[in-house]
Amino acid sequence: MAICYIQLINTMKILAIETSCDETALALLEASGDSTSPAFTIHNTALHSQIEIHKEYGGVFPAMAKRAHAKNIIPLLEEVLKDEVTEQNNPADTDWTVIETILEREPEVFELLKKYSTTHTRPNIDLLAVTVGPGLEPALWVGINTARALSVLWNVPLIPVNHMEGHIASVLLEQQVTAFPVLALLISGGHTELILINEWGTYKKIGQTVDDAVGEAYDKVARMIGLPYPGGPEISKLATTARESSKEIPEEISLPRPMLHSKDYNFSFSGLKTAVLYLIQKLEKEHSEISEIQKQFIALEFENAVTDVLIKKTTNAITEFGIQSVVVGGGVIANQHIREKLTDTATKEDVKIFFPQQELSTDNAVMIAMAAYLGQFSDEVTVNPKIIAKGNLSLDAKK
Ligand code: KG4
Ligand code: ZN
Repeated sequence: MAICYIQLINTMKILAIETSCDETALALLEASGDSTSPAFTIHNTALHSQIEIHKEYGGVFPAMAKRAHAKNIIPLLEEVLKDEVTEQNNPADTDWTVIETILEREPEVFELLKKYSTTHTRPNIDLLAVTVGPGLEPALWVGINTARALSVLWNVPLIPVNHMEGHIASVLLEQQVTAFPVLALLISGGHTELILINEWGTYKKIGQTVDDAVGEAYDKVARMIGLPYPGGPEISKLATTARESSKEIPEEISLPRPMLHSKDYNFSFSGLKTAVLYLIQKLEKEHSEISEIQKQFIALEFENAVTDVLIKKTTNAITEFGIQSVVVGGGVIANQHIREKLTDTATKEDVKIFFPQQELSTDNAVMIAMAAYLGQFSDEVTVNPKIIAKGNLSLDAKK
């Protein structure tokens, strides 16, 4: 049965779980305010990154990601709740059969949770939140099953959250977005999307990549020039060195700006990545091997090409939809050059622009808690909802 009392509580303590890709993240937040002016305080966060595991393979493997999430999620729960609970042996009054069924596919999580729960007091939490998609389904399931188990164990309602709504909400820590319509530009390893928002909770996708995401293109280009995963920061470092040298990009290093002049809001980065491959092959033929300087200029030209397309489409959307605020989210926004160019664009177009704090630009659970708070104003919230992982969940679809 739906629980509606939540809206009556002035402040709400939210525990959020994020396991959509290669980060196991938990966050404990306090939220207050209405849906137009929410305020958030972080109580604690705990995060384990699997980058070292996946680095070796140049990408994220779902089965390996799932195993690492299952191993780390309860130790991280213990860490995030350390100031909320005390150690104490509890009487064996929990019926573990329902919880064991929920965690049927995650026996390791079940054993660790049982041990944790019987040795710690129950935390005071009003709402649980978990990412249900988009992402890697085996990885998402670990978070979902753990969240459902906690929902039953503590009798606390649980709300499903769209990971991309999390990236949008990531800007709401210590700042308020009040001028609508809002345009969200989401640029991550899995997504490149432009979203129109007339009020929090209603999302209309106006464009997206038709092939690779921006971050994915960065990662693939990095691999081509022998740099480790994740490639974004590596390419960006090379590009910055070339940019700061103030030397002209040599004529032979020239890349296309895919879909720059298309009238829609879609993107394509696969052709750009292939153009980099052909360019490397051509340079290797002519110079036997590419030099460090050539690598830097390739990175710079690639970053300029990506930025030109992102800026053009964002500018077009600002004009067509009468946008008042631009919200930018996703791992790629850690890129200083893209940030600066977007900021310049906002100034020129006279709109407000909002970025997440640096540590909230990559995947985290703080953003999932903030999106859950926005969601609970309109969504039904229940204990132990029958939620499932949705690898391809879209922002304009139902959760
Ligand atoms: O949002 P995120 O943490 O995970 C996904 O949901 O995909 O984004 C990760 C992506 C990776 O592709 C990574 O290479 C890229 O963000 N990235 C960057 C930078 N830092 C991370 N791309 C460009 N420049 C950066 N500085
Ligand atoms: Zn993400």
